[in-house]
Amino acid sequence: MDIGELQRTIARDIAAIRNDSDLRAVRDRYLSRKSGEISVRLKALAEAPPDERRTLGQVLNGLKQQIEAQLDAAQHALAARPAADAIDVTLPGRPPLIGHRHPLTLLRERVEAIFLRFGFLVVEGPELEDDYHNFEALNMPAEHPARDMQDTLYLAAPVPPVRDPQGGVEPRREATLLRTHTSGMQIRYMETHQPPIRLIAPGRVYRRDGLDLTHSPMFTQVEGLVVGEDVTLADLKGTLVAFARELFGEARKTRFRPSFFPYTEPSGELDISCAACGGSGCAMCKHTGWIEVLGSGMVHPAVFEAVGYDAERYTGFAFGVGIERLALLKWGIEDIRLFYENDLRFLEQFPL
Ligand code: DAH
Repeated sequence: MDIGELQRTIARDIAAIRNDSDLRAVRDRYLSRKSGEISVRLKALAEAPPDERRTLGQVLNGLKQQIEAQLDAAQHALAARPAADAIDVTLPGRPPLIGHRHPLTLLRERVEAIFLRFGFLVVEGPELEDDYHNFEALNMPAEHPARDMQDTLYLAAPVPPVRDPQGGVEPRREATLLRTHTSGMQIRYMETHQPPIRLIAPGRVYRRDGLDLTHSPMFTQVEGLVVGEDVTLADLKGTLVAFARELFGEARKTRFRPSFFPYTEPSGELDISCAACGGSGCAMCKHTGWIEVLGSGMVHPAVFEAVGYDAERYTGFAFGVGIERLALLKWGIEDIRLFYENDLRFLEQFPL
């Protein structure tokens, strides 16, 4: 093998080094004292004709130094290369994705926190209700027209009320339904507790509605009930106005408007001034300047009678508020469906 060919072979061998044992093999092949290709050739110089000895000696020694230098470099490169399974501690960390509570949950917690501070108890009731607690005990007997205000989802086909010969109607107390409002919790709580009472009852409610901009077959309400010996309409107004201020801020005005609910007398709805137009009237508030927030009233004596309370001794007030409605008003959201679609681009904007 002439020198030129030898040089090419060496270059190829060095380029092919992948690990420490390759490195050792190449070093041995060319530089091992006894059998290394270069060492053998250097030894053989002794027999070479004297005029060749000098130049060939120089070439071989130069080649030897070159190989040593290249093997050293290869060794350094191997040492610097991270092992396949090594952890590169200099890489930036991966930030963990932090979730957060749903806006409706945030708002429900906000409402609960406000009422807890007012000294209210938070209780929860069943979503599966019976006709008695959802309607009848709330002064809405069978065939009462107020039942039409809430299209009800029955778990079995509603059993038609039985008519007695005197024209009275036998209610179907046991019919099972998905509660249409949280008001049934008033009854459940009063059945098992004596006044004084000061509670809120948040939870999901269901109605036979389609899903559109402002309706959903399932939504969230918070019921409120206060009962005692001298609870007045002033207490109702003071409590609800204080609540509205806490939630919406001092800048929004409030007003009470007479209304009707079978389980309260008198009944009133609380409105707040429209945030979109500041009260001057716009499409959002149907040009009235006001937006309805909640229904409320003084507990009807018939409700106290249903739970065995002395309606002469006790008075109370009740209210019901939709969490979705509060969310629409508080955050200026126009489509209730956004709360149920769970599009992260929407959800990630909360808490606001
Ligand atoms: N239950 C009513 C509804 O679902 C809201 C409501 C109105 C609750 C007046 C009350 C009340 O306790 O007094 O629309």
